[in-house]
Parts: sequence; structure tokens; C-alpha cells
Amino acid sequence: MSETVSRRDFFKISGGVAAGVGLAVSGMAAHSAEAAVNTSTNLPYRSKPIANIRTMKTNDPVHFAYPDSASPCVAIKTGNPVPGGIGPDKDIIAYSTQCTHHGCPVSYDPKEKSFKCPCHFSLFDAEKQGQVICGQAPTKLPQIVLEYDTKSGSIFAVSVIGLIYGRQANIL
Ligand code: FES
Repeated sequence: MSETVSRRDFFKISGGVAAGVGLAVSGMAAHSAEAAVNTSTNLPYRSKPIANIRTMKTNDPVHFAYPDSASPCVAIKTGNPVPGGIGPDKDIIAYSTQCTHHGCPVSYDPKEKSFKCPCHFSLFDAEKQGQVICGQAPTKLPQIVLEYDTKSGSIFAVSVIGLIYGRQANIL
């Protein structure tokens, strides 16, 4: 016995299936958006002094390690206000210097105000929260959240935005 489906019924059925798939996909998208929002954690980051505002010079990188000795980072005074920048000019920002592709050490180019990876040539924008300009790096450089004491000028690393290369959590 063969069953036939009228053209109208076919479109009703396929429309219903498509709507169901659409709802499922939009549900997944909503879930993903929620998951993205909920990825912040309350890791026990410690506050670590890394530099002093009074001694930082424009385009003169200050190297430090955070949140532990195995995680090289750099603070830059770019000379221009930047998103997340601290200090009187909102121009001091810091990043992990491990490339997000395979973890090679990136270096700062003061002329381009970018970070360059020597391994596969990814470029990251120092003034735009470390976002990828080009190359194989899948995500921006993790940004080290900074605070500073207006009286002493001390700058502190206090947490990290983004996952440091090779880690499942920034605090080991
Ligand atoms: S490790 Fe940096 S681009 Fe591959």
C-alpha cells in the first residue's frame, strides 16, 4: 500500500519540521549566548603589583608573569586611550604574551601598536583589546585586568579576561 501526501500537506509537514528545527536552533543559539555570558568564573586571582604609573613610558613594554610564573605577560602604555585602559590617560593595558594559536611568545611592535607572533605570523591589535588582525590565531590575546592606586601609582594585575593558551583554567 502506498501513501500519497498532497502538496499542501507536504508543505504543512515540512513547514512544521522547519519551524521545529528553527526553534531548536534558536534555542541552541540562546543557550550558546547564555553559556558565553556565563563563562566568567570566580577564580581565586590574586592582586599582584606589576609596575608603577610614574615610571611607565609610552611604548616601553613592562614584562611580568600572571597569574603565575608560567604565564608571561606584558603591560603597555600605548599613548592613546584604549578600551579597558587604566591610568590618568586610560592608555595602559596588559596581555598574555602567549599566542592563542600554538602558544608561541608574541612581541610588541611599538610602531604598529600590535603584537606579532613569529611562528605563524598572527597579528594582534594592542589598542583593541588584543583582537586578531590577521593570521591563524583563533582568538584575541587574553587581557590582564589592571587596577592602580592613585596615591602610590602602583599598578596591579587582578584577573584575566580570556583563556591563557594551553590551559583549561587560568588558575592551575
Ligand atoms: S603560534 Fe602564533 S600564529 Fe601560530
